[in-house]
Amino acid sequence: MRIQIITSDQRKLMNEKTVATGFTTSNWMTPLFDGPSVSNSDDQSAPKNEPREMTTEYKFQGWMGLDKDSHKGNLVFQEFEPKRFEDGDVDIKITHCGVCASDVHTLSSGWHENVEYPICVGHEIVGTIVRVGPKVEGGLKVGDRVGVGAQSGSCLQCKNCGDHKEPYCTGKCGFIGTYDARHVCGDRSQGGYGDYARVPSRFVVPVPEGLPSDIAAPMMCGGVTVYSPLKKYGAGTTAKKVGVIGIGGLGHFALLFAKALGAEVTAISHSDHKREDAKKLGASHFIITGQEGWDKDNKESLDLVICTTNDAKMPLESFLSLLTPGGVFVLVGIPEEPLPQIKPFSLIQRNVHLCGSLVGSPAEMKEMLELAATQNIKTWIEPYPMDKVNDALHKFHEKGMRYRAVLYNQKHIDNQ
Ligand SMILES: NC(=O)c1ccc[n+]([C@@H]2O[C@H](COP(=O)([O-])OP(=O)(O)OC[C@H]3O[C@@H](n4cnc5c(N)ncnc54)[C@H](OP(=O)(O)O)[C@@H]3O)[C@@H](O)[C@H]2O)c1
Ligand SMILES: [Zn+2]
Ligand SMILES: [Zn+2]
Repeated sequence: MRIQIITSDQRKLMNEKTVATGFTTSNWMTPLFDGPSVSNSDDQSAPKNEPREMTTEYKFQGWMGLDKDSHKGNLVFQEFEPKRFEDGDVDIKITHCGVCASDVHTLSSGWHENVEYPICVGHEIVGTIVRVGPKVEGGLKVGDRVGVGAQSGSCLQCKNCGDHKEPYCTGKCGFIGTYDARHVCGDRSQGGYGDYARVPSRFVVPVPEGLPSDIAAPMMCGGVTVYSPLKKYGAGTTAKKVGVIGIGGLGHFALLFAKALGAEVTAISHSDHKREDAKKLGASHFIITGQEGWDKDNKESLDLVICTTNDAKMPLESFLSLLTPGGVFVLVGIPEEPLPQIKPFSLIQRNVHLCGSLVGSPAEMKEMLELAATQNIKTWIEPYPMDKVNDALHKFHEKGMRYRAVLYNQKHIDNQ
């Protein structure tokens, strides 16, 4: 492996250049609420001016967004600088990467204005480990088939990190996204629409043998984001009747996993188009929100609702009215605008719990993958060669995806 070391002076120059370009740092979600997040590179614990490898025998290159129009299908293939390789890191030769709606929100700067371009998005990664640091967690080794989701870092020291709740890290760095973020060392994170990914091992999970890589990839974000709240709020146990709003990437997983966990499942979609699919995915009931009286007809029929829609103008009051007293409404979809206002009594009168949920922890990812492998749960995918990623983005915007685009690197599949 060819390694080039750079000196601390060179590194300093690079840092200054970064500042000069006006880069701000942003961890994946934080800017939605607070504006640009605090720079991790200011962290006193961050290694400063350390020698840095610039090249390996393989190149970090991928399909990058150069500006906020890139989400329309204008990604360009080019090299990028990975984070510096630290002792707990692994390098992954990417075979597959799902296309999540969050990739599009990020490419378009739809959630916040501080996205650093060029950016390589993609956080439903599966591939083979080609390099491990001396301090990797979980016994990971070269040759392992693994996955990475939307989170690639956290402080690893706070109570939540210790309790396997890494998405809710309360350390200074907080949630560090697989792209559009800075690692604790100060280097940018870059995602999986490319050839290789460099990721701290805590956030790298083995893919069980029985689960094909294309099926597993979208589970890394889309799957676990719904699996986590389904499990947490008792789908199939305390919550017998589960509703899923929005039958897209996340929504189709929510139907599959809610059914697998033993719930009676209702799909809630804006039109009739996905009725037959929803049935095959495990739904026994189908509600069309475009139909007159849909809310009154289904009042207090669900114990738990997972809401995946992107629509900021969603009929939230009506959605809440579907819940039984004490029911739980979990928001996982992240519209680019604030949610509709609701009347206080919509929550109070029936003791409705309204909450949100962010991706899932590595432990939950492992649990979900085991369930998927043992119950033969299959993602519905539309495969695209990696170099046709712009076609996948076009199809995404046409809202025609059934239900997840998965990019694949044939050259890496052939050489596994
Ligand atoms: N909380 C988290 O940690 C997390 C993780 C991943 C993704 N997300 C977010 O979850 C949301 C869904 O992601 P996804 O990948 O499942 O997206 P998707 O595949 O595009 O699915 C979204 C679904 O929402 C419904 N919808 C209704 N009105 C819509 C509108 N105006 N625009 C778009 N969709 C509308 C559609 O279903 P029907 O046709 O059935 O109505 C659509 O299929 C995104 O906002 C994404 O950023 C959140
Ligand atoms: Zn995602
Ligand atoms: Zn933490």
